Amino acid sequence: MKIVETAAEAHGGIAAAKRRRVLVPTMGALHRGHLELIRLARAAAGPEGEVAVSIFVNPLQFEPGADFERYPRPESADEELCRGAGVDLLFRPPVSEIYFADRSVTVEEHALSQTLCGKSRPGHFRGVCTVVTKLFHLLEPDAAVFGEKDFQQLAIIRRMVRDLDFRVEIIGAPTVREEDGLACSSRNQYLTPEEREQAPVLRAALLEAAERARNGERSAEALVRLVRERISAAPRARIDYVELVNASSLEAVVTLAPPSLLAVAVFFGKTRLIDNIQLP
Ligand code: PAJ
Repeated sequence: MKIVETAAEAHGGIAAAKRRRVLVPTMGALHRGHLELIRLARAAAGPEGEVAVSIFVNPLQFEPGADFERYPRPESADEELCRGAGVDLLFRPPVSEIYFADRSVTVEEHALSQTLCGKSRPGHFRGVCTVVTKLFHLLEPDAAVFGEKDFQQLAIIRRMVRDLDFRVEIIGAPTVREEDGLACSSRNQYLTPEEREQAPVLRAALLEAAERARNGERSAEALVRLVRERISAAPRARIDYVELVNASSLEAVVTLAPPSLLAVAVFFGKTRLIDNIQLP
């Protein structure tokens, strides 16, 4: 009789048989950031492994009145991009395949979700955790890749996987940017030419604060003030938040102490952009 006392061993037999599968969950409108995640997924899967991409605009993570309906859905372009990137499996379900009309169970993280985007978008991370749980169950990946552009999302998924014993390795991917520093995002296409011109101020402000921190500034208030001032100089920008937080707990800090994260969310018109930088 074999006696198993660790969670890892308990699950060991299931994983052994199948090809290694690495999943990249997305909401489509694929851009270079997504393609970089797919590249990392291939590297993690190996040539014999399987790269899976899901495209699902998840209604549960959009607050009422947010941009669910108008979220871009360029289906054939996305399909071509996946084909060109060597994706093995594209999972593209309709909403009715994912959610029962009378569904009544969700997955929620209760600590890391309290700050930053969690504060301005109530229910958002519950929607994310719920759909990612379902994708993990449906596709049974061995690993999944998430971008650091959504740093809080990545941290919450890691916590969820740890706390609920998902047998999925979470791989973080650095943020891919346009030449002028703006983080690639499906939402950038909403920006008017004027807003697009001003949007790189997010990256510029974060870089300036990082430089200030490198030169010895330790006060969160001073760093946050600097970023707010720089961003406010862009006439189309309306700040949602600028916060210096501990990169593990995501709680606000008063004095810079590594690992710290400076994170921003800024509206340009109706379009909400986010960015962040890890401070030395
Ligand atoms: P979406 O915004 O489509 O992003 C899918 C993945 O791509 C996320 O892990 C995100 O962090 C990553 N990503 C987006 N822009 C990036 C960039 N410029 N550089 C690097 N990675 C980038 O995030 C979601 O979808 C959803 O919340 C999802 C996880 C799919 C759940 O519905």
